[in-house]
Amino acid sequence: MTPVTCIEDLRALARRRVPRMFYDYVDTGSWTQSTYRANEADFQQLKFRQRVAVDIGQRSTRSTMAGQAVAMPVALAPTGMAGLQHADGEILAARAAERFGVPFTLSTASICSIEDVAAHTHAPFWFQLYVMRDRDFVVRLIERARAAACSALVLTLDLQIQGQRHQDIKNGLSVPPRFTPSSLWAMLSRPRWCAGMLGTPRRNFGNIIGHAKGVNSVAGVAEWTLRQFDPALNWNDVAWIRRLWDGKLILKGVQDAEDAQLALASGADAIVVSNHGGRQLDGAPSSIAALPAIVEAVGERIEVHMDGGIRSGQDVLRARALGARGTYIGRAFLYGLGALGEAGVTRTLEILHKELDLSMAFCGHTDINAVDRSILLPRT
Ligand code: FNR
Repeated sequence: MTPVTCIEDLRALARRRVPRMFYDYVDTGSWTQSTYRANEADFQQLKFRQRVAVDIGQRSTRSTMAGQAVAMPVALAPTGMAGLQHADGEILAARAAERFGVPFTLSTASICSIEDVAAHTHAPFWFQLYVMRDRDFVVRLIERARAAACSALVLTLDLQIQGQRHQDIKNGLSVPPRFTPSSLWAMLSRPRWCAGMLGTPRRNFGNIIGHAKGVNSVAGVAEWTLRQFDPALNWNDVAWIRRLWDGKLILKGVQDAEDAQLALASGADAIVVSNHGGRQLDGAPSSIAALPAIVEAVGERIEVHMDGGIRSGQDVLRARALGARGTYIGRAFLYGLGALGEAGVTRTLEILHKELDLSMAFCGHTDINAVDRSILLPRT
């Protein structure tokens, strides 16, 4: 096999190894995909200032995110159904993150459950909460995250309703997969993936099955989940969750300076500037374009993180330069997972780390915490 040297190599390999409907689920955005594309493209507009003859012998990318020490300011973003990119996907990704020293965030819509991930890892992970109409279920989820010693709660605010991804409809994406001739072919043509899936019991929404009232069949879980996203979610609910969870609270999905001020007032510890990876409001600005105004609006009063479009360590550096204390990767790690399982997620992290470390050094810096906007050239 030719060596994997960049995230694009992992994407290409994942495309060959993951059945079409699950690969497409990852590598798409909503409607015209303009925001999805802008997330990546806008990073390229930011040019670095190279410096020379600076002593760059000793370097560190170590930092903190929401008070937690990190080997580099990159966390694994919550992503639904990662366990369908590769058998036991969430457990494998959490292990890779733990070994590397970065946070892993488990989605409410994961395949492996909170308890299962906790049983197969040592380091505390973060839990991402979707607020469902069934508030008893939400309370129980928070209790389960606490019992599993999760060290932060990431509350997602931008998915009360769902953007449409045309390809998921065309592919008949469902959990568990519906067996039609084309879906059967998509799976059987990926024998390595099939062997993994046949060897694991984890094939459905682990946080929901056996925990949600009125979910009587395995097939009913997906419909329940879709029906349950609560369009009524508002800042009073954020205040309610703030009272229920006394650990670190991170609000994900903020795109606007006014919302950032409301997030600050809610008593949260951090916000994630995010457009859900271009999967919700198509036509919204890229996350990296939205970041500076939000940093300006809240200053140092709340930690600002960002995600969307990060495909290299240079992108992480650009986000840091524009004021993001931390970043998250979604697709970059999912490609690694689909391509090579746990080793692929480790490879993703190694690639990003090396690119971040060297690019920081080219800009004349040795400590990621000292990087600021001055490493970027003024926009022409
Ligand atoms: C997501 N994202 C997401 N966010 C969330 O809060 N809960 C979730 O369950 C999911 N599920 C999900 C599935 C898939 C396949 C993707 C690609 C994304 C959004 C995610 O946390 C993050 O915001 C984006 O992935 C960041 O963009 P990049 O890094 O993928 O470009």
